[in-house]
Amino acid sequence: MNWSQESYTKTYRFAAKAHDEQLFPGTELPYIMHLSFVSMEVLAALAHEPERDGDLAVQCALLHDVIEDTAVGYEDVKAGFGTAVADGVLALTKNPDLPKDQQMADSLHRIRQQPSEIWLVKLADRITNLAEPPHYWDREKKVRYQAEARQIHAALHEASPYLSQRLLAKIEAYAAYF
Ligand code: NI
Repeated sequence: MNWSQESYTKTYRFAAKAHDEQLFPGTELPYIMHLSFVSMEVLAALAHEPERDGDLAVQCALLHDVIEDTAVGYEDVKAGFGTAVADGVLALTKNPDLPKDQQMADSLHRIRQQPSEIWLVKLADRITNLAEPPHYWDREKKVRYQAEARQIHAALHEASPYLSQRLLAKIEAYAAYF
């Protein structure tokens, strides 16, 4: 096994505390649910493709939204989990200073400069998010979200045949929500 339960537990606690009372958009459910799903997808990929730093992948999965969505910053992540994890999480964080329509391409560009473990997290994140969309999303927004998923797949699929296949299937199935 290339990841440890101790590392998972420590990181999960940190993420649960950081996201605190945040809810997952469009639901009454705690945000940590999303992080549980993303890390679960990463663990499934690690079981199929074990040649990786599993702790790095799992830690970045659990922390991937802390810089973007909470008061936790890069230096906090670095102090708790080291530079590789902090750099990974930062790459997975959108740059709010850029126009919205450039933020994904910019993040994908930065993820591609990171180890493949970070690519896995982004693939797992979108696999998880291609579930039933929030009720207030209109058709145009859903179509755009599906197109953005294809952009993520195109940029990162080579990191993991397993997650690549899963993401493609989710992209196709998402059309049912239009
Ligand atoms: Ni996410």
